[in-house]
Amino acid sequence: MEVFHFKASKGMDRDLYEAVSELENICRDHDDVRLKLELDYKLAKADTPDENSDEKLDDFTCWDGHRLVGYLGIDDFGGRTVEVNGMVHPEYRRRGIFRELFRQAKMEWEGRDSNEMLLLTDRKSKEGKSFINGTGAAYDHTEYEMILSDGLFEEAKGFSKDLVLKEATNDDAREIARQNSIYFNEELADQELLDIDLEKKRGFHVYMAVVQGNIVGKVHLHLTNGEGGIFGLGIIPEWRGTGFGRELLLRSVHKLKELGASYIFLQVDAKNDTALGLYRSCGFKESYSMEYYKLNKER
Ligand SMILES: CC(C)(COP(=O)(O)OP(=O)(O)OC[C@H]1O[C@@H](n2cnc3c(N)ncnc32)[C@H](O)[C@@H]1OP(=O)(O)O)[C@@H](O)C(=O)NCCC(=O)NCCS
Repeated sequence: MEVFHFKASKGMDRDLYEAVSELENICRDHDDVRLKLELDYKLAKADTPDENSDEKLDDFTCWDGHRLVGYLGIDDFGGRTVEVNGMVHPEYRRRGIFRELFRQAKMEWEGRDSNEMLLLTDRKSKEGKSFINGTGAAYDHTEYEMILSDGLFEEAKGFSKDLVLKEATNDDAREIARQNSIYFNEELADQELLDIDLEKKRGFHVYMAVVQGNIVGKVHLHLTNGEGGIFGLGIIPEWRGTGFGRELLLRSVHKLKELGASYIFLQVDAKNDTALGLYRSCGFKESYSMEYYKLNKER
């Protein structure tokens, strides 16, 4: 193998952000596949350090001189699972670069509390699937990214229920963790309490859905460069079936538009027919599919 330089770094800086974004665009044009690198969030995270947790080695790079030719990112959301994906410049493939990036990232993960690694690949990426196949990871699930088609939303809009969005504070952190454990079928003990103020500085706004003084659900909205993301949307089981989900979604879209979003997206489990039906009926359309493969730590 030629002599490339491999580096692992903590805290995304502007230069690395630019270099990785450029490589992402090259790969997107070449392969017509999507990645989920969360670069904006990583940059915002580095700008607003959390005093209670150390920065970790989350960015693994490969350089040919000053040219970035490979990148693998770990997304560690503080729970028991980390997410991993990346890319190699089309002119530098099949030379073992991604294998080496993955080896280093896996070693880093071995030293963390996390038990599961999810490896992500666009469903259309044959190379991504072949690579993941060789790691021993097993297929876990698929998520669709859905994009709002404005025309369809216009037809669907119109609030009917008495639901308001109340900006969450740190006092809501336990309730948010409780709801996440229900929506994502995870142990409550594994949920980290969000620092809502810090999340806000990083562009994530959490809203509680309130109906006549009762919290019925919540949503996380993210806005960066005019792109609005809807995450972690849910209605507590005892309040389901009466139109609050639709109302919460419509109000989330409305809020993001108010904040200046010109493009709105969300991600949904491909098997979650109820959520898919709701999103479609409010004007969202599937844009691409991301497959998740799971690797458990050997004990
Ligand atoms: C997937 C990707 C990152 C692989 O990068 P790479 O540096 O070429 O991968 P490596 O050279 O380290 O290959 C390691 C193994 O992956 C598998 N693999 C990689 N590309 C492959 C291809 N085109 N066809 C079949 N197997 C392939 C092989 O098992 C390979 O081992 P081998 O060369 O000894 O047979 C690269 O193709 C890419 O950037 N694709 C677009 C982005 C993407 O899909 N990312 C998802 C990855 S998580």
